[in-house]
Amino acid sequence: MLYPFTISDLRQRPEFFDIVADRIWRASWKEIGYPLDYITGRLNENLNAEPIPIALVAHDGAEFLGTASLIASDLAERPQLTPWVAAVWVEPHARSRGVGGALVERAARGCFALGIARAYLCARPVLTGFYERLGWTPVERDVGEHGLTVFIRDAPA
Ligand SMILES: CC(C)(COP(=O)(O)OP(=O)(O)OC[C@H]1O[C@@H](n2cnc3c(N)ncnc32)[C@H](O)[C@@H]1OP(=O)(O)O)[C@@H](O)C(=O)NCCC(=O)NCCS
Repeated sequence: MLYPFTISDLRQRPEFFDIVADRIWRASWKEIGYPLDYITGRLNENLNAEPIPIALVAHDGAEFLGTASLIASDLAERPQLTPWVAAVWVEPHARSRGVGGALVERAARGCFALGIARAYLCARPVLTGFYERLGWTPVERDVGEHGLTVFIRDAPA
């Protein structure tokens, strides 16, 4: 089914700030005990710092569909690696229509457009197929207490 959507930098569409913060919090931080305020503060830094971090928002007009970010650090066990595509989230009703893939692709291209030749990403092993189809290569498995896989994606030659 045709499903139109746009991907914008959150700096250009700040009306999505609260929902982006909420979804990032729910996706990764709530269950490990962080308050929503912690994410709100970090996301505010995203809006004020340039060029990284970058928070992207997928939307159909005024309807929020999903989000992804490009951030300096994402995996405490690999502090030397940077930058990371992270905080990928698509609203449940909007899944399986290419929104997540498009968000990840846009974040990677945003990295390459800054002249950075390699982007990193970490995910649960169940998502390996999803990221491999998008051109990401797993380089390390079972990292940290959540057993995450580390992926790389290099800029086109
Ligand atoms: C993972 C996620 C971002 C994918 O978004 P999406 O818009 O559905 O992605 P696309 O439409 O581009 O691709 C869909 C494909 O991704 C894969 N996929 C998505 N979620 C998956 C999961 N939990 N396990 C395995 N494969 C998955 C499937 O191959 C799926 O294809 P299908 O719909 O034919 O089954 C979305 O499911 C989501 O927000 N999940 C909750 C948060 C999350 O896990 N984020 C990733 C953190 S690294």
